[in-house]
Amino acid sequence: MKRTPEPELMQIPSQVRAYADADFSKSDSMVVKSLEKYLKKVGRTLNQGDLILDMACGPGNIAERIAKNWPLVNVTGIDGSMEMLNEAEDKLSKNHTKNLSYELIEINSIATGEIHFPFKADVLVSNSALHHFHDPCRFWGALKKLGKTNCIHIHRDLIRPTSLEKAFELKEKHLSNSPEILQKDFFASLKASFTVDEVTQQLFNAGLSELEVFQVDELYFEIIGCI
Ligand SMILES: C[S@@+](CC[C@H](N)C(=O)[O-])C[C@H]1O[C@@H](n2cnc3c(N)ncnc32)[C@H](O)[C@@H]1O
Repeated sequence: MKRTPEPELMQIPSQVRAYADADFSKSDSMVVKSLEKYLKKVGRTLNQGDLILDMACGPGNIAERIAKNWPLVNVTGIDGSMEMLNEAEDKLSKNHTKNLSYELIEINSIATGEIHFPFKADVLVSNSALHHFHDPCRFWGALKKLGKTNCIHIHRDLIRPTSLEKAFELKEKHLSNSPEILQKDFFASLKASFTVDEVTQQLFNAGLSELEVFQVDELYFEIIGCI
């Protein structure tokens, strides 16, 4: 199936609300688990003052989990949608997670150099972010600018199904009990996402081929490594 990009930023209030209200806890926890597993595998620890950036953090579910799991580390969630960050800030004001903050930044602007983010990250994570980019080179370009040498990467995203029928089948299987707007968004995201082969090529083109990309299940791939 040919890729059909969707709008980059999620700004429509009803769409943002449905996304923020949805329970993605199973998938969200995978980012934390993958980072824990990778740190153990390479024998690294995160230290006080280290910085983890959650790229395209949306309503902050994952950034919040990470901040709670590594309370001495600074965690910043970056997103270009004020509507999404309002949801994230709202939760933050209730949970008082001290080592967590958010920045309203359109990520393409980091890649092009229009915006200079003043800090470099020890860890870069993202979930369901890459498929939003009309030009995926921009996503990888921004990450290259944001990471310190030996920065750890954990990125997770949907895999584009082989056909519209398969995409429909996956939507029915995984989201049939969800609100219609969420189902519609999920279907659009499946059509906008990349295949593992395409991501492998993107990483090669970006000079990031030391990162490993692999299929996790019928919906997701992960990219893990240190560069
Ligand atoms: C599907 S949501 C994922 C949110 C979060 N990572 C999660 O897993 O819950 C995608 C997010 O990417 C953000 N986004 C898309 N393109 C972006 C860009 N160019 N710059 C900054 N944020 C972007 C959207 O606004 C949205 O919040």
